[in-house]
Amino acid sequence: MKKYIVIGNPIEHSLSPKLHNFWIRSNNIKAIYSKEKVLKNDLENIVDELRKKKLDGINVTVPHKTEIIPYVDELTNEAQCTESVNTIFERNSKIIGHNTDIAGFDLSLRQSKLNLKNKKVLILGAGGVSPSLIYALKNHKTQEIVISNRTYSKAEDVKKKFNEVKIIKWEEFYDFDLVINATSLGLNLEDKIKIDHSKLTPNKVFYDVIYNPAETNFLREAKINNHKTQNGMMMFIYQAHQAFTIWHNIMPKIDDKLTELLINE
Ligand code: ATR
Repeated sequence: MKKYIVIGNPIEHSLSPKLHNFWIRSNNIKAIYSKEKVLKNDLENIVDELRKKKLDGINVTVPHKTEIIPYVDELTNEAQCTESVNTIFERNSKIIGHNTDIAGFDLSLRQSKLNLKNKKVLILGAGGVSPSLIYALKNHKTQEIVISNRTYSKAEDVKKKFNEVKIIKWEEFYDFDLVINATSLGLNLEDKIKIDHSKLTPNKVFYDVIYNPAETNFLREAKINNHKTQNGMMMFIYQAHQAFTIWHNIMPKIDDKLTELLINE
């Protein structure tokens, strides 16, 4: 029986076990995927379990995606550029840290048939996920990728990784084609993000990386103002799909049954 795990803190609300175990069952794989609340001090031991083959794969979530880096042997280019690891596996006796959030976001954009060529994109937030979004957006021939963050210096840190990014202050908001919420604002139902909708012409796209709640105030207000919206559910599913494919060498199915399973959670 192979063993997979997602580690984070908090971890109770993670839907990864549900998703991976569904695919494990439907592909008749002898494996189990569980979740574990893990503190910073435990990270080295968890990676050692993979080394000793007591585990076969690890997903990493908030707040450990960067903190885990010292304990793996090698990083993929995606993980290195974003300093973010969400998927760990063993190859040729080496422990590899990889980032599937990038492909997860990219595939979610492609699935929605969002053509971003020559478009202006704003990312709100400069936390853990923002570099992954930028990395993915770089392949979409956008006109500009702009970032805005409450703490300006953190936006500058992101710019150090991706020099092509432009930084603006929240109040300098202008007519973007795609506005992405990559902050943690929205995880609580009452959270609000002040967007000056008067600066936008209709029919733009608002994307929230958050998938639970399914509709944040950020998306609800965008809808009221005649914009298209998308939450983070497909990004979440696609990042898991990538990890699953790496671990099991099988591309699992993404269908309505699967999305219903997760949405009804
Ligand atoms: P981390 O910063 O530890 O990586 P994160 O959850 O990945 O944590 O990122 C949280 C993001 O949400 C950050 O961009 C944060 O802004 P700061 O860098 O200024 O902290 C943003 N955020 C969280 N609460 C916010 C609030 N009340 N107003 C504006 N931005 C907020």
